[in-house]
Amino acid sequence: MTEPVVWPPAPIRTERLVLRESAARDRATFIELFASPEVGVFVGGAQARGELERTVPGVPGRRPGLFVVELDEAMIGMITLDRRGPEQRRRVRPEGGEAELGYLFLHQVWGRGYAAEACGAALGWFGGAYPGEPVLLCTQTANEASMRLAAKLGFTEVERFAEWGAQQWLGVRR
Ligand SMILES: CC(C)(COP(=O)(O)OP(=O)(O)OC[C@H]1O[C@@H](n2cnc3c(N)ncnc32)[C@H](O)[C@@H]1OP(=O)(O)O)[C@@H](O)C(=O)NCCC(=O)NCCS
Repeated sequence: MTEPVVWPPAPIRTERLVLRESAARDRATFIELFASPEVGVFVGGAQARGELERTVPGVPGRRPGLFVVELDEAMIGMITLDRRGPEQRRRVRPEGGEAELGYLFLHQVWGRGYAAEACGAALGWFGGAYPGEPVLLCTQTANEASMRLAAKLGFTEVERFAEWGAQQWLGVRR
C-alpha cells in the first residue's frame, strides 16, 4: 500500500496461521516460491535459483502490503495488497489506484484451505484500514485454484480479457 494506515500491523492470527511482515528467516522460502515450477505456472514461470540466491535481499519482501503467511512458525506463502499504478487502464473507480490482492503459496501446502484462510484475514485487515474500498484481483482463467479461491473470497467478475498470451480474469470484492 502507498499510504498505510498502520504498517506493519500487529501479527494477525487465524485459526491455523499467522500473517506478519517478512523477516530474514523467510529468505529461503521466498527463493523456494520464486524458483518453484509449480508455483510459477500461471505467474510468469519459475526464476533461476542461482540468480535468486544472488539477488534476493537479506530481508526479502519488507514493504507495506506484503504479508508473510506462517504455519507452525515457518513461512508457507505470501499475500500482497498493492496499489495499482496509473498505467492500469482497467478500473472500477474513476480515479483508479485500487488495491489488488495477490497470493503465492508453497506447492506442498496447496489444497488445505490455507490460502482462503490467510486471504480472508488479509482482506479483513484491509477492510478495517480502508473502509469501503474495493479490492481487485487479476488471474488467468486457466488457473483453476486461483479462480476457485477468488470465488470463495467473494470476488465477482468485472471482465475477461486477453493479455500475455492468455485469458485473464479481473474480479472485484466490494
Ligand atoms: C492459488 C493458490 C494460492 C491456492 O492455494 P491453496 O492453499 O491451495 O488454496 P485453498 O486450499 O485455500 O483452496 C481455495 C479453493 O481452490 C480450490 N483448489 C485448490 N487447488 C486447486 C486445484 N489445483 N484445482 C482446482 N481447485 C483447487 C480449493 O478446493 C478451494 O475451493 P473450494 O473451497 O471451493 O473447494 C495456490 O494454488 C498457489 O499458490 N498457486 C500458485 C501461485 C498463483 O498462481 N497465484 C495466483 C496469482 S493471480
